[in-house]
Amino acid sequence: MTGKICGTGSWAPDKVWDNNDLAQMVETSDEWIRERTGVVKRHIAEEKEDTVTMAAEAARRALEDAEIKAEEIDLIIVATISPTEIMPCVACGVQERLGADNATCFDLNGACTGSLLALNTAQVYLAQSIYQTALVIGAEKLSGLTDWTDRGTCILFGDGAGAVVLKAAENGRYAQITHSIGKRGSALTLKSRNQVCYETDPKAKETYIQMNGKEVFTFAVSKVPEAIKTLLKREEISCEDIRYYLLHQANERIIRSAARRIGDDISKFPMNMAEYGNTSSASLLILLDEVKKSGKLNRGDKLILAGFGGGLTYGASLIEY
Ligand code: ACO
Repeated sequence: MTGKICGTGSWAPDKVWDNNDLAQMVETSDEWIRERTGVVKRHIAEEKEDTVTMAAEAARRALEDAEIKAEEIDLIIVATISPTEIMPCVACGVQERLGADNATCFDLNGACTGSLLALNTAQVYLAQSIYQTALVIGAEKLSGLTDWTDRGTCILFGDGAGAVVLKAAENGRYAQITHSIGKRGSALTLKSRNQVCYETDPKAKETYIQMNGKEVFTFAVSKVPEAIKTLLKREEISCEDIRYYLLHQANERIIRSAARRIGDDISKFPMNMAEYGNTSSASLLILLDEVKKSGKLNRGDKLILAGFGGGLTYGASLIEY
């Protein structure tokens, strides 16, 4: 058994900051950001648009697309590093909003690899016939965790959510490869606010995303293509058999470099960071939704999904649409 994609959805706030807006906040320019990252704008959530709200909206659209009722969902996993509350988890908040009363719900923190890890987890439950229908969501309100005075990070991130409904099916294919490198974790950090002492500044820099951009870049351009190539070899699939490679949308240069190293055409690597920036856990599922809605996917098409990010973590999965 595997989980077949039967519906996708995504949602992003209406408010948008383009690169010129950011140039009013920090010393940067539209030209620099476009050239170095491929980002042109990002969606920014209003106060009332919290992670649960965004996740629930993306999920509602995915259920509509899948033509299934909320009560039919057995499992909800939300990948996020920006939960509205630590407790209850975002997935339980989504359950409440949708009325998905029969679902088991939990959150998963895998940073920018989060939605890939959540998909992998759901697939294992479905493959074991523990559950029949799963809703996997990636949702982030990174604007609240971004230091808007740090030009090295604030140009990258944005808010949004993506969701996919998976149904257990006899036919289909799913394979995964994942790795973690905890000893390189200091390259990308976000200290929990419960670690900040009341006597010290509660808005300490460490409670915003901190990144060694070069180290993350070097890690991503070597490890992501390596994981994809290993997966393709193990599954005895050639590049020609892959319809699309959906990579975490962190930086256009990382994706172009990965395409070169994998040896496949860049046109098979759809990108949307120009519109959303890096939405961490949400990015892969927003992209999947856009590709599906473009009408360019046919049943049986093979997709590679790949993620990388804080941890450091990375991985790639093969799914037959
Ligand atoms: N605008 C203008 N100049 C800038 C900016 C900016 N926003 N940021 C840095 N600079 C300057 C630097 O100060 C430096 O100037 P100097 O040469 O005078 O010292 C110069 O531009 C080059 O800076 P670098 O940091 O070397 O720039 P780089 O080409 O590495 O690009 C970037 C920086 C875009 C952050 C890149 O390193 C990157 O994309 N890294 C990967 C980030 C990533 O993928 N993160 C994933 C996060 S995943 C998760 O789990 C959240």
